[in-house]
Amino acid sequence: MWWKEAVVYQIYPRSFYDSNGDGIGDLAGIIEKLDYLNGKKDSLGIDAIWLSPINPSPMIDFGYDISDYKDIDSIFGNLEVFKKLIKESKKRNIKILMDLVVNHTSDQHPWFIESRSSLENPKRDYYIWVDPVNGKPPNNWLGAFGGNAWEFDTETHQYYYHGFTVEQPDLNWRNKDVQKEIQDVIKFWLDLGVDGFRLDVVNYYFKDEKLRSNPIDLLKGLRPYDVQIHKYDRDRKETHSILKKFRKILDSYNGNRVSIGEVFIEPPGNPKLANSYLGENDELHMAFNFAFLYSSWNAFSFRDEIIAWEKALDQNGWPNYTLSNHDQIRHISRYKKGKETVPRAKLAALLLLSLRGTPFLYYGEEIGMEDQPLPKEKIQDPLGKKYWPIFSGRDRTRLPMCWDGSKYAGFSEVEPWLPLNRNYKEVNVENSLEDKNSLFYTYKNLLEIRRESKTLKKGDIEILKSNKEILAYLRTYKSERILVLINFTNSDQDCNLKKLDTKKLEIIFDTHNKFIKEKISDFYLYPNQGIIGKVI
Ligand code: NOJ
Repeated sequence: MWWKEAVVYQIYPRSFYDSNGDGIGDLAGIIEKLDYLNGKKDSLGIDAIWLSPINPSPMIDFGYDISDYKDIDSIFGNLEVFKKLIKESKKRNIKILMDLVVNHTSDQHPWFIESRSSLENPKRDYYIWVDPVNGKPPNNWLGAFGGNAWEFDTETHQYYYHGFTVEQPDLNWRNKDVQKEIQDVIKFWLDLGVDGFRLDVVNYYFKDEKLRSNPIDLLKGLRPYDVQIHKYDRDRKETHSILKKFRKILDSYNGNRVSIGEVFIEPPGNPKLANSYLGENDELHMAFNFAFLYSSWNAFSFRDEIIAWEKALDQNGWPNYTLSNHDQIRHISRYKKGKETVPRAKLAALLLLSLRGTPFLYYGEEIGMEDQPLPKEKIQDPLGKKYWPIFSGRDRTRLPMCWDGSKYAGFSEVEPWLPLNRNYKEVNVENSLEDKNSLFYTYKNLLEIRRESKTLKKGDIEILKSNKEILAYLRTYKSERILVLINFTNSDQDCNLKKLDTKKLEIIFDTHNKFIKEKISDFYLYPNQGIIGKVI
């Protein structure tokens, strides 16, 4: 159960490090930077990497449209480099998680090319094809990226279903051969030594057998897609049987391979529904918790989400937390507020790394890389292209990693595929490593403290009643109690802990380094201060 004690670091491979001078990150680049992540004295100290997709792809959705499940896109390298990545990662105690994108393929996948070629093709049923009804699509289903989800094929006079772009046809999970093919894909990567998978939109696999139209609630959102109640195009019960099969495969590899599903539900999510995909400890190991991606900067917002997730899990379930990913605005930008920005980012790190559950970091958050909206001509994300200027897309959160202050931020020798952050000369890895007060060292120190502490990794959690501006919780393991206090405001606060039976703390971490190595007996916090202390 290594994954319960691990901290996972998400890499968006196109943007991590370009080793071959084409402006796009690659696997050899990740290998070169492994020491930054773990294994050396100066390393950040994470335990696992989740790689956003690296399989061959026409890159319409930057890898989330796969055209070959058993190879590596030449932009990123090849299978030999991938094997080297596994080997080098193992040497540094880093596990590797792949992105398993099997709700849909690319329209360039040979299965789809065959499938669309004729009504009789043996692979026709690999995808969801239907006849027009009165010359129209069979129901009101829409694509999550806009437009109708049904695309008419003029050659064979049927519609095919795509939950995302037209170039991402959905697989027909009711087809037994599709099921077998994907199980084979899973084994292929497990045999190569990967430690598990992140499952893209796992709750979209099955659609209603009768293709019933979704109900509408006009008050629910703005886009036509968002006013639909997605009763029939996702979260169908048949998904559970597939996840059980996946789990059996994973468990057959010494029981140490893991799956975490992206159960995509409208913000802020639905912990009960998400965790229903854990089955009875026989489906996913974890369902992504996206709640913090939508939390406001105050104690009650985070507190409510923690309580809701803890409540939704049964004794087998295991929580997880994430503040940023490749689809959402980075949290440092969401919580940006002048001089408070970095102190807030330090508090967010303290929260993420002291909760019960597996933390997921997003590359660059440890140095405080911000989002940067792009001008129209630089936009690459299909969503941004479609919705600009209302929504400029997700490129802004996928900018090249800033390694140093040189011309291309030490990311590449040529102009990178996306622009660099305007402030990369200040906010970069090199500067972060030189400044002991940087956000990087907050992460590094917290990661070290977490690694050494059974209580933080495994202990129970109890949210304490406190001053409402403060988030206070106790982590308990055997006889040890660790108290976490976070002041979300820019003013001094008396924590006002009512129930705690002692007032003595031995500080083990302090965002402000004021109390470090001290024993404190009054729970007063400075503005934007967070502490972790052993209750004595
Ligand atoms: C969810 C992924 O996180 C997102 O980046 C992608 O565009 C869609 N799934 C489609 O695969």
